[in-house]
Amino acid sequence: MNSSTEAALITGSSALLCNPAFNAVTGDWLDPGFWGDRARLVASGGRGGAWYISASEGEFVLRRYLRGGLVARLSRASYVFTGFNNTRSLREFRLLLQLRARGLPVPEPVAALARRSGLLFWQGAILLRRIPRAHPLPESPALGEVDLWSRVGELVRRFHDAGLDHADLNCDNILEAGEDLWLIDFDRCRLRPGSGPQARWKQSNLRRLRRSVAKRCRVLPPERQEELWQQLLQAYAASGGQPGRPL
Ligand SMILES: Nc1ncnc2c1ncn2[C@@H]1O[C@H](COP(=O)(O)OP(=O)(O)O)[C@@H](O)[C@H]1O
Ligand SMILES: [Mg+2]
Repeated sequence: MNSSTEAALITGSSALLCNPAFNAVTGDWLDPGFWGDRARLVASGGRGGAWYISASEGEFVLRRYLRGGLVARLSRASYVFTGFNNTRSLREFRLLLQLRARGLPVPEPVAALARRSGLLFWQGAILLRRIPRAHPLPESPALGEVDLWSRVGELVRRFHDAGLDHADLNCDNILEAGEDLWLIDFDRCRLRPGSGPQARWKQSNLRRLRRSVAKRCRVLPPERQEELWQQLLQAYAASGGQPGRPL
């Protein structure tokens, strides 16, 4: 990986990747306890493992990797270790850098940590720059407006044209900040370059988003939801050929 965009500190038991723009980062920064009352749990939109951090260096979001479902009963935070470069925290950090290099609107990664836990497992976290004044889509003041849904269609299309298969394309992973829209939460996402416009993964991303709209945008009556969804699809179909602007 390009050493001008990440600094790595790897020992036998942990790996810390840092954005060189934040040279004060230490492993502690990835621990919510380190921040005391400067860390505040994110109340809505996620799975409960994310904090807003107010540091003198800036406003951040810290997220631990947690799993849901049945395996969560064994351990919510440990995963089988197969090498630091395969850990979800390091992969997400590097993917964010790649997406940003293509001019796509994703948060700037600050640091990512993977720490071995026992012989078999690892635990990890990622620290991101917080997007100011952002609302998850269901909480957007513009939720009922056609223009917002057209812009979401264009946004998803830009990422798809860049080959980004989002593993969890839901409404809460789309943030609205006034004129700007952002995509977040790239855990387990991957680039699939060279996919055609009808690739199955693209359709499957869109189906997932449609289900999330039905579940999370209930303030809109179902008929209105469907109209706005059609608007999104139209904008998605009409806006090809602009995968990423240069920064
Ligand atoms: N960079 C960011 N800037 C502002 N808010 C964020 C940012 N990243 C996450 N959030 C907020 O935290 C919530 C949870 O984060 P997310 O990355 O989606 O993790 P998860 O869904 O796994 O809990 C998001 O829905 C959003 O409200
Ligand atoms: Mg999310």
